[in-house]
Amino acid sequence: MKSTIRNIILSADWTAKNLEKLLALRGDEQKELLKLGGDCLLKGRGNEVYYRGLVEFSNICTKDCFYCGIRKSNRNTARYDLSDDAVLEAARFAHEHRYGSLVLQAGERDDLVFVERIDQLLKKIKAATNGELGITLSLGEQTAETYRRWFESGAHRYLLRIETSDEMLYHQLHPNDDKHNFEKRLQCLKDLQKVGYQTGTGVMIGLPGQTLTHLAADLLFMKNFDIDMVGMGPYIEHEETPLYSEKNVLWPIQERFLISLNMVALLRLMMPDINIAATTAMQAIDPVGREKAMQAGANVIMPNITPSNQRRNYLLYQNKPCTDEGADDCSNCLSIRLEMIGRVPGYDQWGDSEHFFRRTKS
Ligand code: 5AD
Ligand code: FES
Repeated sequence: MKSTIRNIILSADWTAKNLEKLLALRGDEQKELLKLGGDCLLKGRGNEVYYRGLVEFSNICTKDCFYCGIRKSNRNTARYDLSDDAVLEAARFAHEHRYGSLVLQAGERDDLVFVERIDQLLKKIKAATNGELGITLSLGEQTAETYRRWFESGAHRYLLRIETSDEMLYHQLHPNDDKHNFEKRLQCLKDLQKVGYQTGTGVMIGLPGQTLTHLAADLLFMKNFDIDMVGMGPYIEHEETPLYSEKNVLWPIQERFLISLNMVALLRLMMPDINIAATTAMQAIDPVGREKAMQAGANVIMPNITPSNQRRNYLLYQNKPCTDEGADDCSNCLSIRLEMIGRVPGYDQWGDSEHFFRRTKS
């Protein structure tokens, strides 16, 4: 690696221009960057990878994001909503398989029935697992009051991707109405931090119209926002969405993947104590994409434990992996995969973000 690049990294000189330069690295220089990201994780946090059993409990969505396969205007997807019992069963599976924590994700709803249901469900999950299973929510934009209620009922981490930190680009990806408002999304992230959640965000990489300048700004956004956890991955086009019409302007899919790896490595170097997920979208492009993300500095993995008969209906993007497997298969497959890269599962641990404790210590 040219010494100037090494110097930027060693001196943590994270200017937008420098980040842009580093995001563009390929070949041996990229290898070196990814290794530095991986080494930073191993040195600071060790080789444990934390599991979050992901339950995609409903694909009913009131929003209409232009990129998302479960947007409300997509009539070609069968809608489902798992029963509380099915969710509880998945929670028990996670607990018994020592996953340590659970992520509840669904299409976005904010009606009272939904808010109340989640509240009760959180209490039921806590009761069914002796309070031992950590719970992360990924349920979109809600009022500060709803966030507070769910926090008090047992959720302690929340994921809300900003999708892109560039307001103009954000508006090109969403309908122009107050249900899809950039300012509101930012406010939600602030509310989550204020309520006391470990707060996660993230972006899609390789969106139509997105440049390395945008992505460098995304990295700085996450740092400046003092975010505790991040999930980010390549944008993958879905035929039944409006954004599909832009498929000809996209970076090649391998390019989106390589830049995603650079994003992971750089964010790890910029924020050594946060949690970074190796996302499913990485695996959708490369069969060992998640492993490569872990080797670049990711330390969280979210095995899908949604009952397998519904998995094929939660297609945010096409070619989503593991939609035919059952949770048991994923569990076995994962531990072998980790072993192959010298990592170990952080069984029975919540695997909280160390950054959160530093951020909130006063
Ligand atoms: N490609 C990649 N990621 C997507 N998501 C939604 N649609 C796509 C897509 N087509 C991501 C968004 C969302 C998360 C749950 O899934 O970032 O926040
Ligand atoms: Fe469901 Fe965007 S389409 S939240």
